[in-house]
Amino acid sequence: MDPDNPKMQELFERAREARKQAYAPYSEYPVGAALLTRSGKIFVGVNVENAAYPSGICAERSAVFSAVTNGEKAFSAIVIASENGGEPCGACRQVLAEFGMDLLVVATDADDEIRLEANLKDLYPLAFGAEDLIRR
Ligand code: THU
Repeated sequence: MDPDNPKMQELFERAREARKQAYAPYSEYPVGAALLTRSGKIFVGVNVENAAYPSGICAERSAVFSAVTNGEKAFSAIVIASENGGEPCGACRQVLAEFGMDLLVVATDADDEIRLEANLKDLYPLAFGAEDLIRR
């Protein structure tokens, strides 16, 4: 995915808009994510926290699960919007890796500055994958 693709602007806007719906009363760190499928659709996600802390979910995984729920499994880019442009956590990198390592990952901050622009291959080398499972 080319970062200059016009679809990227839409992705930025959708991630920023989604962030407003985040449920993050504990961390007070709302995050929005917008995931672009290879077929050109966009799925958004937000972090949804819980009083039982580990039960919450990150914005990136919310977006992936929504896309898969809607029959999409091939992705070209994800934009993540947060206060400071924080990078995706390890669990989210692993979930993204399941669906392909050739994914543009962009993180933006509240001033719309791009803080990270990288390919998943570089962000998460040596991911655990289906080929690592020992089948008997
Ligand atoms: N969070 C995300 O949604 N995405 C990230 O990439 C990093 C962290 C969420 C999880 C939690 O709700 C809050 O941010 C603070 O960790």
